[in-house]
Parts: sequence; C-alpha cells; structure tokens
Amino acid sequence: MMKITKLVSNIVLGRGCIRELKAFAGELLPDRSGYDVFIVDSVHRNTGTWDQLTPDSGDLMMAVDVSAHEPKTEQVDELCGRIREEKGDALPRVVIGIGGGSAMDTAKAVSVMLTNPGSSADYQGWDRVKEKAVPKIAVPTLAGTGAEASRTAVLSGPVRKLGINSEQSMFNGVLMDPDLLESADPEQAFYTGMDGFIHAVEALNGSAINAMGRPFAEKSKEAIQRFFSGEGSAEELMVGSYLGGASIANSSVGVCHALSYGVSFYLGYRHGIANAIVFQRLEEFYGRDVEALRAMALRNGIELPQDVTAGVSSATLDKMAEMAYLLERDLISAMGEDYRRILPPERIVDLYRRM
Ligand SMILES: [Fe+2]
Repeated sequence: MMKITKLVSNIVLGRGCIRELKAFAGELLPDRSGYDVFIVDSVHRNTGTWDQLTPDSGDLMMAVDVSAHEPKTEQVDELCGRIREEKGDALPRVVIGIGGGSAMDTAKAVSVMLTNPGSSADYQGWDRVKEKAVPKIAVPTLAGTGAEASRTAVLSGPVRKLGINSEQSMFNGVLMDPDLLESADPEQAFYTGMDGFIHAVEALNGSAINAMGRPFAEKSKEAIQRFFSGEGSAEELMVGSYLGGASIANSSVGVCHALSYGVSFYLGYRHGIANAIVFQRLEEFYGRDVEALRAMALRNGIELPQDVTAGVSSATLDKMAEMAYLLERDLISAMGEDYRRILPPERIVDLYRRM
C-alpha cells in the first residue's frame, strides 16, 4: 500500500521564541478563534517557564504531574472532562503541550479526545482515531524523545501501555526555544537525550530503515552526540530531537527498546534511564555506540546505574524477557525473522543479570 510520510512542517526555532507562541498560533490558525488550552508539565510552576507563558483571559492553564509515571489514559480523560466542564461544547482554538515527552504526548491525546467520543483507552493502537483533532502546538522543554515530531502519544491504559498512533495525533507546529532546556534537571536532560541517541543508533542498525528515515536518523544521532560531547549547541540538539522523531515512521527501534520495556514495567525505571541501563550491556549489538554513550555519561558527570537487577527473582527476570518479545517488529528489524534463536529468553535473562 502507498505510504505517505507526514512531517510536522511548521517550526519556529530560536532563543527566546517562547515569547512568540501566541503569534505563532495565530499565523498557523488564522481561521480559528476561541480559547487556548495550555498543558504544562507541573515542574514548570517552579522553573520560570510557567511565568513566561502569556495566556489571554479565557485560556485554560492546566498543569500535569508526570513525575511519577508516564501519562495515563485516565489522566487524559480527566483533563478533557475538566475542559468540557469549563467550556461546555466550545472547542479550543489550539492545544499547546509544554514539557518533555510525557506532557507533549498528553497534549496530543487531549487534542484527539476533545473531538472523539469515549475514553482515550479506546484509541490506543494504530489509526483508530476517526474525527479530526483540535490543532496543537508542541513546546519541548527536554530534547530527545522526538515526541514533538512523531505521531505517537504513548499512554498507559487499563490493559496496556500503547500509543494513540494516528495522523490526528501529530502536532501542527513546534516551537523550539533552546533557553527552555536550561530549566531541566541535568540528569533528566541527559537521559532524555540518550533516548534520542539510542533511537537513532537502533534505527540506523535495523533493516526497517529506508532512504527517507536514514538521513533524519543520521543527523539526529550526530546532533545529540555533538551536544553531549560538549561541541554542539542547544539549538542543534533541539533540531536533532525533532529529526529523530521525524525518522521514526521510516525506521524502527531495536534490541535496547525491546529489553528496556521490562526494566520500566517491573523495576519502575522511566523510559530514558531504562534504555541507558540496557544499552550499556549491548556491546555485541551496538559496539562503538555503547562506548560513545559511556563517554557522554562520563563527560556530563552522570553515573549510569549499575546492579539494578541484583535481588530480582528469576521468575521476574523470565517475565521481563517474555515482555521483550512484544516488540517483535523491532526485534525483526534488529536481527531478522530468526530473532528468537539469536536472542532466546535465557540469553535475555543473562543480559538482565549483568545490568
Ligand atoms: Fe525511546
């Protein structure tokens, strides 16, 4: 079947451009009126970013707490309920997501659920959204997830953690202000960057990548690596994150993301750090890039977690290994159809024991 690659094609980039956010929305959506919804990671109440926003009277400012877990379907449903309570059937002009991957994904999901009936849990999966979403803008304050450019809104639901994956869950515009990165916790900024680095490494080493995905992934990897090696600028890093997100539709992740799933689910590590924990032990798959990640950690004063599986039972390790096979498409991209023979459960458990 014909495959259409969609990109978020409206981008504002530059230091201080957060001040142009309202003007950007106006340029993008000249035919829409009404109130705006700001969905902001609640950490920004204390970073100064919240105070830089300039809502008009009638706009809704909503803080979302994503510190303990990634966004949940019930959180999205609750936000939509609050918007409807305040505004009845009137739709917003635009939904603006301000924060890292979790806040941006929440904004994507809210924009979809304001025009689609039922619970956001009904839309987890591929192309399940029927009605056109409310327009949305991303304002990333962390760089690396690529959420600002990808069509996935990752959500934990009652039965599964799975993205709403639809054309309707893509942003209409991205505003990249490198000054906003400075508000981030340095560890979180590092691990978010490494998520992007690992995406690019896995994409470039997988068979699923095509000629459209490759240049995006190459440039993304280069920009992220340069930044965390002390060479690149924060602007380049933000563009690298965007390019990484743009590569996702034409590539796939690999062994690290597959194995990190169980580390997050059973041991409670967030996505970026779980990936770094796993990646350190994947020399046989990603050789020199593992060395590069270690060097970046060292340079940035980050101590990568060790011995995280000490004390974890064999039964749990077995379940974690089984979970890795859920990312079948990615394992096929990394190792071919024969992936279960190349990476049997006992070998995954062995890798887990060394983490
Ligand atoms: Fe990731």
